[in-house]
Amino acid sequence: MEIKKSAFVLSAPLVSMCPKDNKAEYAFIGRSNVGKSSLINMLCQHKGLAKTSSTPGKTLLINHFLINDAWYLVDLPGYGFARRSKSVQKQLQQMISGYILQRKQLVNLFVLIDIRHEQQKIDREFINWLGESGVPFAIVFTKADKLGPVKARQNAEQWMKQLEDVWEELPPYFITSAEKKTGREDLLAYIDDVNQRLEAE
Ligand code: GTP
Ligand code: MG
Repeated sequence: MEIKKSAFVLSAPLVSMCPKDNKAEYAFIGRSNVGKSSLINMLCQHKGLAKTSSTPGKTLLINHFLINDAWYLVDLPGYGFARRSKSVQKQLQQMISGYILQRKQLVNLFVLIDIRHEQQKIDREFINWLGESGVPFAIVFTKADKLGPVKARQNAEQWMKQLEDVWEELPPYFITSAEKKTGREDLLAYIDDVNQRLEAE
């Protein structure tokens, strides 16, 4: 599958204000600054499509990008960014959980993890909450260019292994770099697969 067309559609502060056309959605979530917006731009080969920043907390709304006139990539705000007021944090949290739990069009959530970091409590708790809530998701390790390929694979495998105490069956995972376009083909193939399964239903 190739992305021939990508276009920004709208930014919504609430799930009720998201597009109403019932197309399948693939959303990107993870800690602030993990590389969600950069990954969307890399997949679409469209620099500046989603706004990125080296300062955490760039994405603050639910952003829809229409792909090939057929389905959406959705850029979400990051979680776990402490340097803002409690009320703003709470508001963001409600926006994110509202979208994830209520959005019927959401067919897969990509949970992004910085490949350099040890498993963090906040990511683990988030993933366990997804499991309890029955939300389909895959793990995407980001910034693989910051490590050598062997170390990157080792870190990812070790990170996944740590889920085995709670998870009987591990979710799929991908190793990516927005910088080097690593993992692009695999992620697009995965999305294509889900799209085709949906069409066959
Ligand atoms: P928020 O919207 O603030 O939650 O952040 P985000 O997860 O959307 O991250 P964003 O894509 O804005 O990227 C954050 C920073 O990480 C930017 O400085 C990016 O250039 C950098 N970055 C993102 N992906 C990669 C990558 O694959 N490799 C490297 N080296 N840097 C990356
Ligand atoms: Mg962002």
